[in-house]
Amino acid sequence: MIDYDAESDCYDATRGGEPRAVAAATSIERLLPHTARVVVDVGCGSGIVTRHLAGQQRLVIGVDRSAGMIRLASRRLPRRTVLGDATVLPIRSSTADVVLMIWVLHLLRDPEPVLAEGARVLRSGGVLITTVDKNDAPFRAPSDFADVTAAARRELVPQASDHHDRILRLAADHDLQPLDEATFVGIGQGRSPRQWREHIAGGHVAWCQGTDRARIADLCSAISSLSNQETARPDPIYSLVALERRR
Ligand SMILES: C[S@@+](CC[C@H](N)C(=O)[O-])C[C@H]1O[C@@H](n2cnc3c(N)ncnc32)[C@H](O)[C@@H]1O
Repeated sequence: MIDYDAESDCYDATRGGEPRAVAAATSIERLLPHTARVVVDVGCGSGIVTRHLAGQQRLVIGVDRSAGMIRLASRRLPRRTVLGDATVLPIRSSTADVVLMIWVLHLLRDPEPVLAEGARVLRSGGVLITTVDKNDAPFRAPSDFADVTAAARRELVPQASDHHDRILRLAADHDLQPLDEATFVGIGQGRSPRQWREHIAGGHVAWCQGTDRARIADLCSAISSLSNQETARPDPIYSLVALERRR
C-alpha cells in the first residue's frame, strides 16, 4: 500500500483537490439520511472530503491510521479526528448513524474485517457508504484510452478488493443491505495519454506494478499511438454504494 505519511503533503493536490472533494461530498450528502447526526469517516485522509460533511446538526469524526494524514485532517476538523485502524475503530458499538469509506476498500487485501467493524459501530438503521470499483473509474466513460488498455486490464487487473458485487456479498454477511447508489466525477483528474504513460512508467498504476517490463513497454507503445497525446481524456467517474444496517 502507498505510504500515506510520506504522501500526505502532496495528497490533496494529486487527488483532484477541492473540486474532487466537493463532488464527492455532494454525492455523499445525497445518500445521507436526513436524520444523520453522527458520521464516522473511516480512512478520512487529509479530511478534504470529511470537512464538507460537518454541520451544526451533525458531528463528523475522522479516523485514519496515518499520522501524517490525521495531522492534516485535524487542522480541518479540530478535535474531531482520531488516529485509529479501520479494523478496530475507536468508536463504541451501535453509536454511528453513518459510516463512510471513501477510496479505502480498494487498498485492502481483505475488506471483510473493515466492513464488519463498520457494521459494529452503526446503529440499527444506520448507513454505510463506500466507494466501489475505484480503479475502474478512469475507464468508465468511453474513450480511445479505455479501448487501447482494455486487453491489458483484462489480463493484468486482478479481482479488485472493492469490486461492487464482492462488497455487497461481504456486506450482507454483516446485515448490511443495499439501499442506494450514486456516482461522482473526479473533476480535473482525466489524464492525457502522455500523462498516463508517465504515470505507468513511474510505477503509480497498481495493476502495472510487478508486471514484466516488455509487457509494460508494449502497453505504453500502444498508448503513444493514440492521437492528441496532450489532450486529457474524460474525468474518472467514481461509484458509491449505500448499505443499510438491518439489525
Ligand atoms: C486514498 S486515501 C482516501 C482519503 C479520503 N477518504 C479521501 O477521499 O480523500 C486512503 C486513506 O485510507 C487510510 N487507510 C488505509 N487503510 C486504513 C486502515 N486499515 N485504517 C485506517 N485508515 C486506513 C490511509 O491512511 C489513507 O489516508
